[in-house]
Amino acid sequence: MRDLVEKLEKNRTLGRTELKALLGGTDAGDRERLFSAANRARLRIFGDGLFVRGLIEFTNHCKNDCYYCGIRRGNGRAVRYRLDEDEILACCERGYALGFRTFVIQGGEDPLYGAARVEALVRRVRGAYGDCAISLSLGEADRGSYERWFEAGADRYLLRHETAGERHYAMLHPRGQTLANRKRCLFDLKDIGYQTGAGFMVGSPFQTLDDIVEDLKFIEGLRPHMVGVGPFIPHADTRYRDMPAGGVELTLAVIAVLRLMDPWLLIPATTALGTAAPDGRERGVMAGANVLMPNLSPPEHRRKYALYDNKICVGEEAAECRGCLSLRMATIGCRLLCDRGDYAGFGQQGGKGGQEWTASTARRARAGSI
Ligand code: 5AD
Ligand code: FES
Repeated sequence: MRDLVEKLEKNRTLGRTELKALLGGTDAGDRERLFSAANRARLRIFGDGLFVRGLIEFTNHCKNDCYYCGIRRGNGRAVRYRLDEDEILACCERGYALGFRTFVIQGGEDPLYGAARVEALVRRVRGAYGDCAISLSLGEADRGSYERWFEAGADRYLLRHETAGERHYAMLHPRGQTLANRKRCLFDLKDIGYQTGAGFMVGSPFQTLDDIVEDLKFIEGLRPHMVGVGPFIPHADTRYRDMPAGGVELTLAVIAVLRLMDPWLLIPATTALGTAAPDGRERGVMAGANVLMPNLSPPEHRRKYALYDNKICVGEEAAECRGCLSLRMATIGCRLLCDRGDYAGFGQQGGKGGQEWTASTARRARAGSI
């Protein structure tokens, strides 16, 4: 196992059998060696800095019916809400005042937020916050819509692929939702020039280690700038309510493998990880994660964006979360960085990548040249 960690560190890739062995190993010493190699890689590139993105969950209306998700269309018990443009801008204003320079505008696939309305929204945010990065996370769309939003000023797009294998994808989604379209979206997004985030849940219903290996191989092919992984957590109003939650240790192992596959990758320590274990996000960072996404949504709506049960931070104001995160991360020797924090590694558009994250790459990233 020690050999596999060293090999992954050196070559940044492993074969399928090797990946499976690495992820499947449960020896505490081996896991510790994997986590510390990933933590060293994080420290080498990013030092003690963690990028902070302000998350605005602006609608929980969704036309999709993913079987695992609490805000899926078929959940009649979900209390629906939608922020209008002024309310979204007010979230940005609060976030800006707190120092955030990246806004993640995330929602379900809400038919009332069509391509034109999103485009106008992006233009407004871009006009008001020229120095901020705008990330969209609005699900699947046609290439033309993605292009319009990019032209309007969006820089990044987060779309988890959820699972890279057809068999497993079909166990998590109804027939109308296809893996082929999800993958098409991701390749379009990258091709258009977005800094692109993929990702998946660990321990989702019926997932095997082979499925996770497929996810990692898919990511190797896509070369996204960001990968979000978090444990699956059951939601009481879904058919998977009695399924076990994903393992924290396995999630950490996936984070560590991703860090070693691409030392420059942006990897969030997710809210789901913080929900699955009280110190989940800290442990995520110690296993290689380098991004935090505190919530900027109005507290009165937070509870309704319930993808899974017992989500943390639903009662806290954005400022409280920032303060809490800053204290938590200080306990593991890290500090919050509020700047744009663009990707500076291999997957970047038009660049060679591979450089260390230095003050000069950070400056160029801010100036938009990488
Ligand atoms: N548990 C954990 N993560 C979930 N997501 C959706 N439902 C759940 C759940 N029950 C994740 C999906 C989605 C992201 C926004 O949240 O991966 O892409
Ligand atoms: Fe939200 Fe700790 S991060 S309360």
